[in-house]
Amino acid sequence: MDWPRGFGGLCYGGDYNPEQWPEEVWKEDVALMRRAGVNLVSVGVFSWARLEPTPGAYDFGWLDRVLDLLHDGGIRVNLATPTASPPPWFGLARPDALTVTPDGTRLTHGSRDTYCVHSPAYRAASVRIARTLAERYRDHPALTMWHVHNEYGTVCHCDHAADAFRVWLRSRHGTLEALNDAWTTSFWSQHYSAWEQITPPRATQYLPNPAQVLDFRRFVSDAMLDHFREQKAVLRELTPNIPVTTNFVLGDWVPVNQRHWAAEVDLVAIDHYPSADPPAETAFAADLARGWASGKPWLLMEQAVVTYTGPRMLAKRPGEITRLSLSHIARGSRGAMFFQWRASRGGAELWHAGMVPHAGPDSRIFREICDLGALLPTLQDACAAPVEAGAAILWDVEANWALQAPGLPSTELNHTEAVRQAHRVLYRHGVTADLVHPSADLSAYPLVLVPSLYLICDADAENLRRYVAGGGTLVVSYLSGVADEHARVRLGGYPGALRDLLGIRVEEFHPLPPDIALTLSARSGPHPATSAPTEAETPARSRPGAGPFAYGQAETGTFWSEHVHLEGAEALAVYTGPHTLGTPLSGRPAITRHSYGSGTALYVSTRLTDDAYARLLGLEPVPVELVRRGDWLFAINHGDEEQRVKGLHLPPGGFAVRTRPDLEP
Ligand code: GLA
Repeated sequence: MDWPRGFGGLCYGGDYNPEQWPEEVWKEDVALMRRAGVNLVSVGVFSWARLEPTPGAYDFGWLDRVLDLLHDGGIRVNLATPTASPPPWFGLARPDALTVTPDGTRLTHGSRDTYCVHSPAYRAASVRIARTLAERYRDHPALTMWHVHNEYGTVCHCDHAADAFRVWLRSRHGTLEALNDAWTTSFWSQHYSAWEQITPPRATQYLPNPAQVLDFRRFVSDAMLDHFREQKAVLRELTPNIPVTTNFVLGDWVPVNQRHWAAEVDLVAIDHYPSADPPAETAFAADLARGWASGKPWLLMEQAVVTYTGPRMLAKRPGEITRLSLSHIARGSRGAMFFQWRASRGGAELWHAGMVPHAGPDSRIFREICDLGALLPTLQDACAAPVEAGAAILWDVEANWALQAPGLPSTELNHTEAVRQAHRVLYRHGVTADLVHPSADLSAYPLVLVPSLYLICDADAENLRRYVAGGGTLVVSYLSGVADEHARVRLGGYPGALRDLLGIRVEEFHPLPPDIALTLSARSGPHPATSAPTEAETPARSRPGAGPFAYGQAETGTFWSEHVHLEGAEALAVYTGPHTLGTPLSGRPAITRHSYGSGTALYVSTRLTDDAYARLLGLEPVPVELVRRGDWLFAINHGDEEQRVKGLHLPPGGFAVRTRPDLEP
């Protein structure tokens, strides 16, 4: 499907909430959108209460006028189904459709996203409002795309959820016996003798069952996807040529398995709000989105003109709006969209900035929005070829969920953070990475990084073996491969599923407190203290892609360490510093290398600094962001100093999009 319908070039615009403003403002909005080069707006995301002020009584007059005005102005519409926030009357009439928290509290209206996707009443009402909208606007010429719901994310623990969870569990596990086995319910007298005994992971006296928590997250994602599919079916029936999407959001709390959903949306769309390190976080989010889209184009649906850091909202630096948007586009986005067009004057997000800020169009922000709008139409040719990646990093939402379980050996473990570090290291050294699932075809990548992939199924572990046997270089870091798909430990030594591939056996973990750093030093060949040294001493040498590496000085490992035995691998670095917390690790392998088939598998048993990680991979720093697409190179200088790269002169904050023949090698 051609999406968004009628778009040859890049999309530019944002969420437009005209219902927050008197009609006089709408005309000015359209005029300003035209001035800024806006060509697409998302309308009606939170409009249900205005579209259906009382049950069954619709008011479409205002939306008719808005869509006509936009169309007259040449601006296309990404029309939302408003199901993320049902009106107050709905929750009052159907309290069983309001969210219930794990402790049994039923939430009330007054905020947003207060729904239960398992409630039959809410499901029926969602389909009804989607159908009503599609029937009314199916032939409107401005209609270009459907935006179902908004940032699926509300998890409910009510009795509807319990009923639906049991149905899902029956289909996943087949029998109670299989479920009891997968969940290890022999522990703490949790054995189930009837399906009705099973509930969502509600508030419990002490730690819940980790396999139950993990299955519940999988179930919630599937249930929300059903809610999406029901609306999509209606929209497809009435408007077969209009693409349908929803906006994914990032975060550990997000209950959506974006990879599964990506197969159901007509395009992948994400919202992204970087905080501490916007350039690196932007590259990460964009590469994730491209991974979900299986390399196809995707769309940055929402970003902000300010940076939300948690405690404060920071103004973006001059040119930063353009640089970050360009980074998304370089990495595959079909445009740059924002939340929101005009900053609100009231309501809960009155301080969430807009493309037209409170100050109005005579403002730095709006001038920068106009600059970006003028830039985008010039980028079309540069975006034609696919993004070229020099490495892959494995990321799996289920491994991430499993590492949020209670009772882990450290509360600080986080798969996504480990993946972010690996991505940041490649990013800072000019290597574009694809973020892919462990089941992906890896054969085209010279280098694959596997950061703290706690949970892995047998088939995916076999995929990694196949990749290395075929000549690939794999760098696996601590706590990978230790659990199966039911979050049960694989026995016989860590990292269970990957022991033979890595040629090691880990006997014990030693998580480190924040004030303890271990020293490492490079070493060639196996350490004599290890149980089964099998390979002859090999001098450390540099090789593109991945180790071995030679430290010029001692490096540090923090956060985590392990007691590693060599079982075919060689030690590339050993722990040298004192270990005061348990078995001394001094002299034991910290980083290992193993030849497997025609390839090489490295293991890193601690958290390296970014610089040491880069040295291990044999990378040289590159001071600007570089992304290659066919004949084109995107170069973005996010820093405060002038840079010269490939014959390009990039002033502080400058960027260039050039064809490669114009560049120095
Ligand atoms: C997300 C939501 C928007 C809005 C912004 C806040 O993108 O989809 O509705 O809440 O965050 O900046």
